[in-house]
Amino acid sequence: MLMVNTHEGWSRKYKTDYCYIQPSPGTYPYQYFWDTCLHVFILTGLGEYDLAKKNMLSLFAMQGADGFVGHMLHWSHPFPAKWTDIFQGKPSVDLLRPHMSALIQPPLVAQTVQRIYEGTQDKRFLQVMMPKLKKYFDWLRTNRDFDGDGLLSIITPFESGMDWKPTFDEVVGFEHGVATRQLFWKVVGVDARNFFHRYKLATLYKKDHFLVKEVGFNTIYAQNLVAMADLCDALDDFDADKYRRLSRKVVEAMIEQMYDGETAAFYDIYTRSRKKIRVLTPTILFPLVIRGLPRDMSEAIIARHLSNEEEFAAPFPVPSVAKNDPSFDPSESEYLWRGPTWVFYNWFIYQCLYYQDYRVEAEVLRETILRLIRQSGFREYYNPLTGEGYGAKEFTWSGLVVDMLNIDGGDSADSMTDKL
Ligand code: GLC
Repeated sequence: MLMVNTHEGWSRKYKTDYCYIQPSPGTYPYQYFWDTCLHVFILTGLGEYDLAKKNMLSLFAMQGADGFVGHMLHWSHPFPAKWTDIFQGKPSVDLLRPHMSALIQPPLVAQTVQRIYEGTQDKRFLQVMMPKLKKYFDWLRTNRDFDGDGLLSIITPFESGMDWKPTFDEVVGFEHGVATRQLFWKVVGVDARNFFHRYKLATLYKKDHFLVKEVGFNTIYAQNLVAMADLCDALDDFDADKYRRLSRKVVEAMIEQMYDGETAAFYDIYTRSRKKIRVLTPTILFPLVIRGLPRDMSEAIIARHLSNEEEFAAPFPVPSVAKNDPSFDPSESEYLWRGPTWVFYNWFIYQCLYYQDYRVEAEVLRETILRLIRQSGFREYYNPLTGEGYGAKEFTWSGLVVDMLNIDGGDSADSMTDKL
């Protein structure tokens, strides 16, 4: 599946070879930022290090002089696949040539380079990647930490990677509930505004139409700053301390601003007012992946939400929003991340549980996801109540199950890997 979806070629504009995996050729033809990272987790799990390296090098091949890397790289498909994609890039005449979007996606890139390095001990590759990564993380800090508290802001729901995540309803002005066409126009309206402001961040901050500090994004940021520090250590680079300090600052700000002890959850917050958006999605427990988080916090979050029959317990967990939330819809829909189960969420929460020593709960999650894939194949997402597969077919991300199996040296990996 991964090989069939692999695209290689030569870009005249960037004078480089490129190589990337389409998450699903029909629906998602570009090289996507966080999809590439997820593919690298799968590829390294399968021992495909050369392909993993090529994917990472291509991801940074269009990097701007300021360090920016967009969330969609239009290589062999420069022309927009959907008309709404136009709003996700800066106004430009480049639409017929390779170019990248003006959006970002969760920054898993340091962890993926670390995975490749751990598997290959290839210092040359690390030395090539390190300056690129440093520039990228510098860009994030200087451009998206608007108020200097360490937390990064996203400027459109799509930057979270969880496009129609119900948390954002109230921010875009949609009455919280099951998605309708109105939500579509509200969210596309955010991108259209950003486009008309030419993605000038100072203007977007001033206008404050959509500015959110999202829990998932910032958790991944904190994790990757630690990975940056580890990579620096591998090269005897004194910047290691700088990244460790920054990661601590991010985690402290998350605990202070996003955590609510009364309801035991981490919530997305408005950037400027820091108001919590109290919607229960799986990201309420993402920060558990961070080692050293206070034990009482993890215990409360898991006990209150994960096994709660009203919220996240389901025959095929984890639903992408609590079952008792007014936006919950378990069926197939163009409005993604509003009820169904994504292998991505299970992969992430599996790590949270595993590293916090909730091995039994972690195992349950792994077993149900294996059952789901055996039953319905590698689909984009699934019905959490019936297990029915939905969305793109032969969807690459569901291969993350291989990483889940590898985390614990699982023994059923073989039956899955031959299909990937
Ligand atoms: C959908 C997902 C997003 C992903 C893209 C390509 O838009 O929500 O996270 O990057 O598809 O797979």
